[in-house]
Amino acid sequence: MTHEPDAATADATRFWDERYVSRRTEHGRMWSGRVNAAVAQQVSELVPGTALELGSGEGADALWLAARGWDVTALDISSIALEVGAGEAAKAGLSERIEWVQTDLTTWRPSAQYDLVTSAFLHSPVDFPREAILRRAVSAVAPGGRLLVIGHGGFPPMSEHVHDVEIPTFPSPEEVLTSLDLPDGWLVETNASMERTTKWRGEEDVVLVDTVLRVRRVD
Ligand SMILES: C[S@@+](CC[C@H](N)C(=O)[O-])C[C@H]1O[C@@H](n2cnc3c(N)ncnc32)[C@H](O)[C@@H]1O
Repeated sequence: MTHEPDAATADATRFWDERYVSRRTEHGRMWSGRVNAAVAQQVSELVPGTALELGSGEGADALWLAARGWDVTALDISSIALEVGAGEAAKAGLSERIEWVQTDLTTWRPSAQYDLVTSAFLHSPVDFPREAILRRAVSAVAPGGRLLVIGHGGFPPMSEHVHDVEIPTFPSPEEVLTSLDLPDGWLVETNASMERTTKWRGEEDVVLVDTVLRVRRVD
């Protein structure tokens, strides 16, 4: 039996699918195709295990994780983005290591626990309960595992965010930490804002600020 998505899910799916289609038509891809710098920095030192990625997009982080031995479950609302990721995984011989799951995180509830739960730039201009999703993600972390939350410190210069529905603010890592409302038995390993220089759309150098929070469930 198939279920019709509710109106909010249908709207968010349409918004993101259309963004992926239009940007891929215009520029060949939506994102850079490279692992996020903060993900590489925060995860390189960890022993591979199971990983859950929230809002994987075209899967650059999932592919990077899988290539390092992680078994990844990649969740995103856009089947267009997930298909791109699955295609890249097939080309790289990593299909066995990544499960691509189309889901609306707004209604998602964790059904398993992972050594790493990661989200990079999980922001959306469509009505999006990010804090509640990240709080739920806490319960998807296995004992000894970690939650990694990477976000924008502000709008990238020259970004083309949609002005009538723009994201009101980007929280600091401290605010993300507070909103997670972690129970006892968690350790904060990274709580920082980090600058990085990147080529904007492959052209001009821009300095971006990433917020990085990494917490570990110690028992
Ligand atoms: C800013 S992009 C970041 C993508 C990827 N993590 C990266 O760093 O390239 C946000 C992603 O969240 C996904 N997303 C937005 N709303 C969602 C929702 N309600 N449920 C699941 N994924 C969602 C979008 O489709 C998009 O791929």
